[in-house]
Amino acid sequence: MEVGEALQRVDDLLLSIADSSVPLLRETSQHILGAGGKRIRPRLLLLAYSAAGGTDFETAIPLAAAVEIIHTATLVHDDINDHGTLRRGRETVNSRWGGTFALLTGDYLFTRTYELMAPYSTELNRILARASTALVEGETMQIQAAREGTFDTATYFEIIARKTAALFVAAAELGATAADPPRFWVQALSQYAFNLGIAFQIIDDVLDLVADSAQLGKNTGMDIAQGRGIAVAIQRSRGDAAGVPAPAVEAENDISRQAIQQAILSGHTIEEAVAKGREKATEFATQAVGHLDTLPGSGAVDALRDLARQVVERDH
Ligand code: IPE
Ligand code: IPE
Ligand code: MG
Ligand code: MG
Repeated sequence: MEVGEALQRVDDLLLSIADSSVPLLRETSQHILGAGGKRIRPRLLLLAYSAAGGTDFETAIPLAAAVEIIHTATLVHDDINDHGTLRRGRETVNSRWGGTFALLTGDYLFTRTYELMAPYSTELNRILARASTALVEGETMQIQAAREGTFDTATYFEIIARKTAALFVAAAELGATAADPPRFWVQALSQYAFNLGIAFQIIDDVLDLVADSAQLGKNTGMDIAQGRGIAVAIQRSRGDAAGVPAPAVEAENDISRQAIQQAILSGHTIEEAVAKGREKATEFATQAVGHLDTLPGSGAVDALRDLARQVVERDH
């Protein structure tokens, strides 16, 4: 089986998982899971499995689904907190069904991973459990720092390591460990994934500043309006925090968010954040790729190199 076919199987599994006996949960879960998404975490998991010598994708497919389910659950909850209205090109669950059912949909997705993970070892369960905890910690730290007006670059890195890189690390470690390779291969893939995850979130923040909402399939201009993200971190670290709002400013839609954004940060700061963000993301992606040299060459390792390039170059 090729990675592409395995990813299709992950998608099939995701949709079967969304099949709750409660029609409302089935509808909401299928709405968000059926909308696609980049599926970068399952891809990373499957490639790590293959790069570590794994040959039977059947072993890795449920793990890849578990990681994507956790990720999707956090998006559903994140959109409640961020007042998001657009996700994966569709109306958000909170926007269509309201915050209460969005909360429960996120809970439903989180709890579905118990069954997926049940057949696997304690070690694999622990890897995913730790990442899930880190994610919630990162999201909490982010909202707290935005509200308290302490969102500087050091805090920014602490946050994105938890809210994003931790699940990338889990994906790589789950895939690699399932292939049972020498320990240092798992460590190399873990380091690759950490750096990739940081680069990925930095670019996500850059796209929040510059990308087109329709092309991105989700709201843009959210970060500055809510007192966080890379531009706010840069401005606050410079000690020029007067214009950065705390507590977070809330806005009804993209247009008013953009108006707030312009009022808060000068165009210069935004341009600087975009340039610095792209530069930093490239550095982290380069670091990521460096860790792959530890592994024996293979098609999967080449694909992981390519993935790092795609993460930095992506425009949606
Ligand atoms: C969005 O993740 C949240 C971040 C961690 C930046 P993705 O950009 O992977 O979202 P989907 O899965 O493609 O929708
Ligand atoms: C990532 O942060 C969210 C999670 C890790 C749950 P963002 O708030 O930037 O994600 P998007 O931009 O809404 O996808
Ligand atoms: Mg968000
Ligand atoms: Mg974002």
